[in-house]
Amino acid sequence: MRIAGRLAAEVLDMIKPHIQLGVSTLELDRICHDHIVNAQQAIPACLGYGAAPGRPAFQHTICTSVNHVVCHGIPSSEKILKKGDILNIDVTVIKDGYHGDTNMMYVVGGETSILANRLCNVAQEAMYRGMETVRAGSFIGDIGYAIQKYVESERFSVVREYCGHGIGTVFHDEPQVLHYGQKGTGMQLEAGMTFTIEPMVNAGVWQTKLLGDKWTVVTKDHKLSAQFEHTILVTETGLEVLTARPEEDLSRFM
Ligand code: MF3
Ligand code: CO
Ligand code: CO
Repeated sequence: MRIAGRLAAEVLDMIKPHIQLGVSTLELDRICHDHIVNAQQAIPACLGYGAAPGRPAFQHTICTSVNHVVCHGIPSSEKILKKGDILNIDVTVIKDGYHGDTNMMYVVGGETSILANRLCNVAQEAMYRGMETVRAGSFIGDIGYAIQKYVESERFSVVREYCGHGIGTVFHDEPQVLHYGQKGTGMQLEAGMTFTIEPMVNAGVWQTKLLGDKWTVVTKDHKLSAQFEHTILVTETGLEVLTARPEEDLSRFM
């Protein structure tokens, strides 16, 4: 899990210099795909994943969710990045049978609106606030409570229909990790558990809409959305961030 997590995090660092005005999200997908397959000798978990009645399998390596897209955006040659776009790249790799799943926001062209910037910062801090509650003996509901309380205090909303998940040899496993709820509820955490925390934060209402492609999730009011995700390991005293990036400040978890 540590190796898979490190590889997933590496993809998010590797792709950063390629996120430029005029690049398409499909080009970013190709670069990530080639890096995972050739340099990392790992497997892109999303490619061919998730076929269900009435829904085709996902056909790409990364999810690219721009502006009002909440999650599961499909890379496309038609989606050209422009200045001030906020982009989420979500990547999951499989190495030696284990999954590492992580995502983060990027600002295209280096600057965006004050609102978009604050939304991205609140989504990242929301993830960290959830992570801060994690240790052996805490409750899974503590995570969602901390996230919801913080996000709503910033006058943003938390998406309800999508959640974090157990992860290991299985991509999406039990338990569901809700990003809203009540403290002291749900299962109690034990050292050795691995799961993701991946809050989606909306500038407007929390409700979402699924597009006709059966993957792309957008905000119902078409206002902006932002997300951050880590895969974590529960320890006796806290957690270990399996998808930490080298330059990320995680000092509060040490
Ligand atoms: N990586 C996403 C998650 O955080 C899942 C994407 S599934 C895909 O759980 F098929 F859309 F790629
Ligand atoms: Co993910
Ligand atoms: Co996930």
